Amino acid sequence: MAGQREQFQSRLGFILAAAGSAVGIGNLVGFPVNAAKSGGAAFLLVYAAFVVFICLPVMIAEMSLGRHTQRNPLGAYSSVSGNKTLWRIGGWLALITPFMIAVFYQVLTVWLLAYFVGAVSGNLEAMSDPAYFSEFINDSSVFIYLVILTFIVGFILNSGVQKGIERLAKVLMPTLFVMLLLLTAFVLTLPNAFVGVKYYLVPDFGKLSLDTVNLALSQAFFSLSLGMGILITYGSYVSRKESISGGAKMVAIVDTSVAFFAGLLILPAIFVFNPQTDTAELSSSSVSLVFTFLPKIFLSLQDWVGYIGASLFASTFFLLVFFAALTSQVSILQVPISAFQDELKFSRLKSVFSLGACAALLVLACTVSFGMVPWLTEFMSYGGGTRSFFDLVIDVFYETILPLNGFVICMFAVYCWKRAKLNQEMAVGDDNISGSFTERYVNFALGTFVPAILLFVFISTVSLKFFGVNLLQAFG
Ligand code: PFF
Repeated sequence: MAGQREQFQSRLGFILAAAGSAVGIGNLVGFPVNAAKSGGAAFLLVYAAFVVFICLPVMIAEMSLGRHTQRNPLGAYSSVSGNKTLWRIGGWLALITPFMIAVFYQVLTVWLLAYFVGAVSGNLEAMSDPAYFSEFINDSSVFIYLVILTFIVGFILNSGVQKGIERLAKVLMPTLFVMLLLLTAFVLTLPNAFVGVKYYLVPDFGKLSLDTVNLALSQAFFSLSLGMGILITYGSYVSRKESISGGAKMVAIVDTSVAFFAGLLILPAIFVFNPQTDTAELSSSSVSLVFTFLPKIFLSLQDWVGYIGASLFASTFFLLVFFAALTSQVSILQVPISAFQDELKFSRLKSVFSLGACAALLVLACTVSFGMVPWLTEFMSYGGGTRSFFDLVIDVFYETILPLNGFVICMFAVYCWKRAKLNQEMAVGDDNISGSFTERYVNFALGTFVPAILLFVFISTVSLKFFGVNLLQAFG
C-alpha cells in the first residue's frame, strides 16, 4: 500500500473512535428493552459481569492482533497463520460479518434519520400513530433518505481514519453524552418517573433464566462491537505508545455507562406515560420500540411541555440515536475498506466506491423486503416461519454468527498466534502489564471458558433460530 498506515492521532481520539463504534443502537435501544424484559438491575449485573469477564479478554485479543499485524482481519489471520486455509476462513468471517451488519444497520440508520427529520418538522403526532411505521417503511421517501445517508457515510469514510472517523467521533461522542444526560435529567423530573427508576434499578432475579443470560451475552458482544473484525481493524491504527488493555477498559466503561443511562432515560419515560405499564408490551423487538412505541411516549410529554416541547424532546432523542448509529456505521464499513486497501491495494476512494456499490444493492434488497417486492418479503422459511431478506440478514449476522467469530478469535490468539506473542503485544506501550492480574486473566480466559461459552451460545442459537429447538431449556 502506498505510504504509511494511518494512525489515530491521540489516545483520546482512539478511545472516542472505538467508543463511537461500540455505542450504537444496541446501547440506546437494545439494552433498555432487554433490561426491561429481563429483571432490570438483575440483567444489568449479569451484563456487566459478562463485559468484564468474557468480553474484555476478547476485546484485548482483537485489538492486540490488529496492532501487531497492522492489517485488516483477513490480512491479520493470513499473516500470522502463514496463510493456512482454516484460519483464513476465520479472517473471511471477520470480514463478511461486519459488511452484512453494515447492510442491516444502514436500513435502521436511514429510519432514524427520517424520524429525526419527521420530529423536527412537526410530524410527531402522525408518527405516533401505530400504522405510521409500516406505511413509512414502504414509502418511496425512504429512498431519498437512503441516498442522503449513503453520501454522508461515503464522505466520512473517504476522508480517512484520522480526518474522517476520528474527527467525527471527537465531535459527535461528547455531543451524544451531553444530549443523553440532559434527556435523562429531564425525564427524571417528570411525575411517575421514579416508578420506572425503581422498576429498572430494583433487581428482579426471578426473571433471569438461561435464555436471558444468553441474551445478556449476545447483547454485550454486539454492543462492544466484538467478533466483527472492527477492533482488529481499529487496533491496526493504534499507536505503539498506547496501552491496549487500558484503552479496551475505557471503551468498555464508556459503552456500559451509555447503556446504563439509556435505560435510565427510556424506562422512566415509559412509566411517565403510563405508571401501570405492562412490560409485556415491551417484549417486542427494539425496532418496534423505537419506531412505534417511543413516538407515542414522546407525544404524551405534551401534557407537561406542550407539543413543541415534546417534538423538541423527540427530535433530540432521534438525533442522539442517529449520531450513535452513524459513528458505528462508519466503523463497520472501515473493516472491508481496510481489507480492500491492504489486500487488493485499492486506493481509499476506489475501496469506498466499490464497497459502497455492493452494500447499496444489498441495502436496497433489504429496504424493499418489507412488502414492496413480494419474493424478498417472503424470502425463506425456517424455524417455523416465513422470513424476509432483511430478517435473514439479521438472523444470520446479528443473532447467530458473532459468538462463532468470538470463539474463532480466542482459538486463533491462543493456539495459532500463541499467548507469548499476545503478551508481548499487550506490553507494547504498557509498562505495568507483564505479570499483572489482567495479563494472567486474559491468558487463562481466552484458552478456557470464554471460547467454551461462546461455542455453546453459538450452537444453541443455531438450534433455536433455524431448527426451533431450545437447547437451553434442556439445562434450565
Ligand atoms: N456496537 C454497535 C451497537 O451497539 O449498536 C453496533 C455495531 C457497531 C456492530 C460496529 C458492529 C460494528 F462493527
